[in-house]
Amino acid sequence: MSPLEETTLAPAAEWWQSAVIYEVYPRSFADGDGDGVGDLAGLIARLPYIAALGVDGIWMTPFQPSPQLDQGYDVSDYCGVDPLFGTMEQFDTLLELAHSLGLRVLLDVVPNHCSSEHPLFQQALAAGPGSPERDMFHFVPGPEGMSDDDGDGSATGTADAGGVPPNNWQSVFGGRAWSRANPASQTDTDWYLHLFSAGQPDWNWRNPAVGDYFDGVLRFWFDKGVDGLRIDVAHALFKAEGLPDSPATDGVVDGLRSNPQVSDQEEVHEVYRRWRTIAEKYQPHRLLVGEVNLEPARAARYTRADEMQQAFAFSFVKLDWDPEAWAAVGNELEAARQLHGAAPTWALENHDIVRSVTRFGSGELGSARARAAVVALLGLPGAAYLYQGQELGLPEVDVPVESRVDPMWARGGVCRDGARVPLPWTGDAALNHGFSLTEPAAQPWLPVPAGWGTHAIERQQQEPESSLALVTKALQLRRLLQKNEVFGPNDGGTWRVDAGNLLICERSADFFVAVAMGTEPVQLPAGSVLLSAEPLTEDRWLQPNNAAWVLRG
Ligand code: NOJ
Repeated sequence: MSPLEETTLAPAAEWWQSAVIYEVYPRSFADGDGDGVGDLAGLIARLPYIAALGVDGIWMTPFQPSPQLDQGYDVSDYCGVDPLFGTMEQFDTLLELAHSLGLRVLLDVVPNHCSSEHPLFQQALAAGPGSPERDMFHFVPGPEGMSDDDGDGSATGTADAGGVPPNNWQSVFGGRAWSRANPASQTDTDWYLHLFSAGQPDWNWRNPAVGDYFDGVLRFWFDKGVDGLRIDVAHALFKAEGLPDSPATDGVVDGLRSNPQVSDQEEVHEVYRRWRTIAEKYQPHRLLVGEVNLEPARAARYTRADEMQQAFAFSFVKLDWDPEAWAAVGNELEAARQLHGAAPTWALENHDIVRSVTRFGSGELGSARARAAVVALLGLPGAAYLYQGQELGLPEVDVPVESRVDPMWARGGVCRDGARVPLPWTGDAALNHGFSLTEPAAQPWLPVPAGWGTHAIERQQQEPESSLALVTKALQLRRLLQKNEVFGPNDGGTWRVDAGNLLICERSADFFVAVAMGTEPVQLPAGSVLLSAEPLTEDRWLQPNNAAWVLRG
């Protein structure tokens, strides 16, 4: 029996209900082979660090073979390991080690699109218009007309067969969502759809062969013992039948989240019902967690009893420091929980969004608020996800323009690299903060800024007041409160804002989380403070930007 099955964790089928998962962005976690890119060897070597935090598992972003145009979210082989990250043997070692340390392992699956290097896409290109191979993707002949030389979706150039894209959809990364299959041909007038970059063609989920293909992908990883999957762009697999134009306001087509033609089609739910059935064929049941970037009421429909078990609370991920907004979103999520039964899946950071330290105000103010926010996060009912480096209070980095590699930067002028800078393990800048375990001089794939060493893990491990110490303490206390049933898996959350902008989330009759979001100190309602982001200077008084867990009675 593996330690996972014999520990005091929640019953196997429900381990995820109140789990905390640590998101690993492998290329920035630790480099084990000395090329400046993090990899499986680095993760294996550093896994005890994650286990010591007291989280329940890890979610690894893609390490499968990929041209790395979108840092692995352009997959060319769903059932392999990219040599950049290591080998399948190393993955097997990692999985075994994780389980022996009591950590579950979730992988990313990217079912909306693959890489243009994927063999099935290459076969589709070669097979030509109208072929069954092309029907695996969205290949559509462009209407005859003027060519769209400037790529803005309108014909302005020279007369050309298939010269304009089939509809007005825009890519999430900027520019149009269509590219010509064979730009040099006058007879192959097909365009293919890519909601992201041109190197990421969208699968055609209306073709049943696509669903069958992904069933095999799920089974491959579940058979290996992987505990669950995070589903990329889970709400966008199906597009509106016939691929009609999207509504435009003042000539601007809405993005993915609110574009009715591109996302949240009813048919997508059938995929997750099917996947849940597969996940439940395994013991323990495998977890499905969706990147469902929709407002709470719509996102909650993906966590109905026979679909995914979790969907990230995106409305929460993006909040600014605003108590009314937190309370409103919290109550919306609670209403969704009551309707569909699945508790919210909280996160404040991930590899796509600006680090909370910077989002909440930068400098000392941002750091204080990020500490308060993570304390609040870990006290909320439901599951929570931490992003690597969040436990260190890492700020967003302004990566020099010449070093930026994010395709979103190139296509749309928004750069996500600042949240993906390699972790500082040591304070030694000359040795690249210990990022590479075998070649200390290896330059990390993204440059780290001056002063990165102040956040180093090695330092924070020695400082009782560090962010790392705080997060570790919160995680330990969370486990204790779960064990003593102060925290129950079915707790709800009632949110309100008290005088002085004191945000309160009542988790149960006995326990509440409070965050001082105003500019003056505020007194907490009665109870004993179990944990706070900063020590209290006076009994039950929170200074601005402090947060506390309070037990009544
Ligand atoms: C969401 C992922 O988190 C992001 O990094 C990626 O670029 C897009 N999906 C496309 O796969």
